[in-house]
Amino acid sequence: MNELRELEPDFWRAPSAHNTRPWTLTYSDTEAAVGWDPARALPVSDPTGRDLRLSLGAFVECCLIVCADAGLGIAFRPDPGPLRVGFLYRAGRPYETPFTTADVRARGANRGDYHPGRLPDEVAAGLAGMRRLACRDLADLLHAADLRQFGDRQVTRELRAWLRLTRRHRRYLLDGLSDRALALSKAEALALRASLALYPALRRLGLPRVLAGASRELLDYDGDVLVLVGTAGEEVEPGRLLMRHWLTLSGLGYTTHPLSQLIDCERTRASLAGLLGVADPRTLLHVARVGRPKPG
Ligand SMILES: Cc1cc2nc3c(=O)[nH]c(=O)nc-3n(C[C@H](O)[C@H](O)[C@H](O)COP(=O)(O)O)c2cc1C
Repeated sequence: MNELRELEPDFWRAPSAHNTRPWTLTYSDTEAAVGWDPARALPVSDPTGRDLRLSLGAFVECCLIVCADAGLGIAFRPDPGPLRVGFLYRAGRPYETPFTTADVRARGANRGDYHPGRLPDEVAAGLAGMRRLACRDLADLLHAADLRQFGDRQVTRELRAWLRLTRRHRRYLLDGLSDRALALSKAEALALRASLALYPALRRLGLPRVLAGASRELLDYDGDVLVLVGTAGEEVEPGRLLMRHWLTLSGLGYTTHPLSQLIDCERTRASLAGLLGVADPRTLLHVARVGRPKPG
């Protein structure tokens, strides 16, 4: 399976929560185990491993697409084990997919501004497992979720460990969330660094309110939010599906901005399930706004 090693940089283009890039590939002659590095899990903000498994699923899909584009017959066999979700193995022919390595490279999350406008019905209808809601209907819920997120000392500490707000950060190009990825201006990045450094004191003075306040306008426009609904605890296949949907959208000129805090917070997850008429809130696996990005 050595031929896969040189494709790794493209496998690594897969999305992951906080850009932790948690995946590992352990090679033998005939297969490669897909696993994860526990030091790259998010035990505080992702205690059930939902986002971890979604990210691993997205990674598997990415590997299959990139291998297929290189003409390699590689398939995936789920086989959950300790720190492992399954195996990539040699197959008779390449994985069948409409996507290419160029598509994988072109995709990216976008947290900047979006043009107003909803997804065409035929595009939304093609996204299996996805439900959609109007952005504005979720503006208050997002504010509540952000207040909870930034008000939680442990969640904020974990997020902070993955922020790369200055180019001088030694892992700026390696992983985590950079100022550029977060669409922050230089001044905003500086202000965020300063406020997070003073977090314990500022928390008492209402920092969470200030940080969450900025998010209120985020959904106050005419746009769409997509919610992936599936089975709680079984997120690897849905992660593969999510990756395919993101590639479909990206190919049509749309980008996505995940808003996991809406389902990380029990109260807002329950409200969201109520809005969708979904009986079990734990089956909401992923949330993102989607649209045509304005140039940054
Ligand atoms: C399961 C999952 C959850 C995510 N949750 C969030 C989120 O809540 N907020 C956010 O801004 N980005 C979120 N992201 C996007 C990642 O931060 C992003 O994929 C990563 O930084 C890599 O950047 P790229 O997608 O532009 O390649 C999530 C991604 C995945 C796969």
